[in-house]
Amino acid sequence: MNHKDSYSTPELLRIMGGLELRMNQFYTQVAKKFTEPEGIRIFWDSLAQQESVHSTIIYTLSNMYRNNPGMFNEIVEVDYSTMSKIEDFIKTSEEKINNEDFDLNAALQEAFDLETLEVNDIYDRIIESPREPFLAVIDHLIESEDAHLNSLVEAILEYASSDKLIEKAKNLRATFSVHEQV
Ligand SMILES: [Fe+2]
Repeated sequence: MNHKDSYSTPELLRIMGGLELRMNQFYTQVAKKFTEPEGIRIFWDSLAQQESVHSTIIYTLSNMYRNNPGMFNEIVEVDYSTMSKIEDFIKTSEEKINNEDFDLNAALQEAFDLETLEVNDIYDRIIESPREPFLAVIDHLIESEDAHLNSLVEAILEYASSDKLIEKAKNLRATFSVHEQV
């Protein structure tokens, strides 16, 4: 059974805003470090831009919360393991990226670990139902998270050197092609 921790919505929005911002910085740094081939640099840049949009969305949600606290869940439960991975990434990613062993495959692995965290579940739980008028904001965020997981899987299949990571990406792709083929 997964251990869960409770967070107030403002606290959770602060943590998630910090995560999206840190992901933006991480992908920006990675884009500068791995510039070859051209396709991979464009890929990292586009992830960085999307994370910047996400952090703006979280900032917007924080303002909405201040004006309409009743539309949000007061307390949100999050898996302890998800939250500790998020906190660990925020604390250690800077150090990891500066490590000399941090190659393209390690960057793809780190991105894979990040993008497969259950952040969409967290965003889903922040809003009390019925979710109007926040539906569009949250749905945009969730769709965008799904879209860059798709593009990350494609990048791993093209550029990763670790068979284990490629295998994980293939397994994940099999789960979303089920939805796409419908
Ligand atoms: Fe994001």
